[in-house]
Amino acid sequence: MLPTPSREDHFSFGLWTVGWQARDPFGDATRPALDPVVAVHKLAELGAWGITFHDDDLVPFGSESGERDKQIQRFKEALEETGLVVPMVTTNLFTHPVFKDGGFTSNDRSVRRYAIRKVLRNLDLAAELGAKTYVFWGGREGSESDAAKDVRAALERYKEAIDVLAQYVIDQGYGIRFAIEPKPNEPRGDILLPTVGSALAFISMLEHADMVGVNPEVGHEQMANMNFVHSISQALWQHKLFHIDLNGQRGAKFDQDLIFGHGDLLSAFFLVDLLENGGPEGAPAYDGPRHFDYKPLRTDTEAGVWESARANMVTYLLLKERAKAFRADPEVQAALKEAKVFELAQSTLGAGESVSDLLADRSAFEDFDVERAAGLNYGFVRLSQLAVEHALGAR
Ligand code: GCO
Ligand code: MN
Ligand code: MN
Repeated sequence: MLPTPSREDHFSFGLWTVGWQARDPFGDATRPALDPVVAVHKLAELGAWGITFHDDDLVPFGSESGERDKQIQRFKEALEETGLVVPMVTTNLFTHPVFKDGGFTSNDRSVRRYAIRKVLRNLDLAAELGAKTYVFWGGREGSESDAAKDVRAALERYKEAIDVLAQYVIDQGYGIRFAIEPKPNEPRGDILLPTVGSALAFISMLEHADMVGVNPEVGHEQMANMNFVHSISQALWQHKLFHIDLNGQRGAKFDQDLIFGHGDLLSAFFLVDLLENGGPEGAPAYDGPRHFDYKPLRTDTEAGVWESARANMVTYLLLKERAKAFRADPEVQAALKEAKVFELAQSTLGAGESVSDLLADRSAFEDFDVERAAGLNYGFVRLSQLAVEHALGAR
């Protein structure tokens, strides 16, 4: 029996995902444009809970204000009819040629001012629609030539923009948090803040660091050969996992934006296990939207678009079931114990123990049986195989 997605699962989709017309650098669109109102209705029917968008996905770039109001009104009506919510909103600072050298970090100051204004306008809409998170993906913030960009100055301008926007949100009382989305490259040769680690380090330099977190995307970390589960773990550890972009990727190549689980399936299994069971007492470690940022394959027509939307959610739910079964299996619990996975949660020094106490403890060094410890069997092979067998539904 396949699981059925429902609103309680908190699945959300970018309007640009199901709405992707499949234009790529080598070929034209293979699908007609999708009306955002149709997207809202279809996603609601399929059991999704939320929809997200870039300003230009909803209202085409350069539309007159009357046209803008009309589009927003139609969209709002569709939300009311279906009960779909808008948990996150973001800005397109990459498609129009004005942003060819970036938005917040363009070498041209007037472009930077324009970019901030574009975000300010869309922040008002985000607040009006009740969004809790605003994502910043700086796809054009970067360079192809090290001669062309003073990276320290660019980071200073990036910080300036986020600081100004954060102050605006505070002044307006919008209660929105920011989430920075890292990506190593594409469309720029090198994008600023390439990995989750870089974004976390950048956030620590911000004026309002407390209201800024990350929006890691599976494929983006994997493009940089990073372990996504590790990156998410660090974001959680630093209380900075504000949002997440779920999709699939097969290794270090162009951004594939595959369906969730259609890339590194085992990594997807461990990711779902972490998100759903990684909190205290096996509770979820993350309670935000389960947001899909993927592209329905270019080979498929609209039927494939809705099939792929469903596939993301069903795959997530299947992995969630498998991860629950993994945790509930007594053999797994015994293997985890044998592997000392829980022992790592114990502090290395005792409560109140000082460095001098440690120095005085002969059993920690002088009398420590190095040979015994070197000969320990951690049993990671068995544990890993149990995970594989659970992921495959064989247990
Ligand atoms: C990409 C990015 C984008 C962002 C989106 C939201 O690689 O194209 O993942 O899809 O997620 O712009 O900010
Ligand atoms: Mn992507
Ligand atoms: Mn993304």
